[in-house]
Amino acid sequence: MTRNILLLPGDGIGTEVVAEAKKVIDWFSAHRGLNAKTDEALLGGCAYDATGTPFPKETLEKARKSDAILLGAVGGPKWESLDYSVRPERGLLGIRKELQLFANLRPALCFDALADSSTLKREVIAGLDIMIVRELTGDVYFGEPRGVETLPDGTRKGYNTLVYTSPEVQRIARVAFELARKRNGRVCSVDKANVLEATEMWRQEVQKIHDEEYPDTQLSHMYVDNASMQLVRNPRQFDVMVTTNMFGDILSDTASMLTGSLGMLPSASLGAKQADGRIPSLYEPVHGSAPDIAGQNKANPLATILSVAMMLRYSFDLGKDADLLEAAVRNVLAKGIRTADIAVKGEKTVTTSEMGAAVLKTLDELNKNAKAA
Ligand code: IPM
Ligand code: MG
Repeated sequence: MTRNILLLPGDGIGTEVVAEAKKVIDWFSAHRGLNAKTDEALLGGCAYDATGTPFPKETLEKARKSDAILLGAVGGPKWESLDYSVRPERGLLGIRKELQLFANLRPALCFDALADSSTLKREVIAGLDIMIVRELTGDVYFGEPRGVETLPDGTRKGYNTLVYTSPEVQRIARVAFELARKRNGRVCSVDKANVLEATEMWRQEVQKIHDEEYPDTQLSHMYVDNASMQLVRNPRQFDVMVTTNMFGDILSDTASMLTGSLGMLPSASLGAKQADGRIPSLYEPVHGSAPDIAGQNKANPLATILSVAMMLRYSFDLGKDADLLEAAVRNVLAKGIRTADIAVKGEKTVTTSEMGAAVLKTLDELNKNAKAA
């Protein structure tokens, strides 16, 4: 079976981190029978430059035909003055919407070797393992009406709409409860039900799905302001967090810092199972295109490499291979190999490609040991 993987390197450091991740994909084909066939397409600012749109038709067609997609990052100052409709971010939002990738899984895991790289104290974050489940195709990100209008008196009015339907809430709630069953059985749903009607409805629907379908799991609810505080006060109280698109965007950046660096956080964006059994899926690091360090071989490729591990697990059901890759990353970190973002003062740092090479070398070692055992 050939596995068709579409690479969308995108902009800024996206191209550098995806190049390292591709070597990892190729390694799994060479040594573990992944049998991947990779193709590339344009998304984001690079697509706009080449074709006049951040999300070309050809990219959508290739995306629909692929078994899984790996994305680097989109955006940069070069495109910031463009109209909203053609901004690089539109490309990302477009592909999420077109493929109906409604479930965004953002695991925040603190590797022990990195517990000192975080701005938080080791005793707060050591052993941290939480899963943020962010709804990805609804909310104020896509709600209509939206826009900016000039009023008769010359002042301006800007508005966006926070909207959810009950089926949208129910399907993301199910994803969270299913994950909780495979973890520690606890889900915390995050909303702003004390102020926003749409999220009060969110709370009620999550509760209903829990009571009717997942009574074996434990559900709690938390307001988003409190949740943001609890994430830095005592993050280990959480197992699975499920929340709206907007709140998930914000909380997952906070959570990333608990792991040492934004450069460590992978993500998976999944759709509903199709008639042919396939699950549309896109994997990407949570970090952005980091224009300040782009093209300098400085970026940390580990979030993208860990996104490949999520691909192996969720798209290809290769849990053992995913474990192997995660073990290789853990090993590399334990050896003290650090890109600049995860180095503490005085520590020697490596480049993007050196970090990629270190992961490949460690994969070789672990694979040899596994075969010898
Ligand atoms: C993310 C990013 C995107 C988002 C941007 C780039 C559109 O911040 O994936 O978290 O807001 O969803
Ligand atoms: Mg974000």
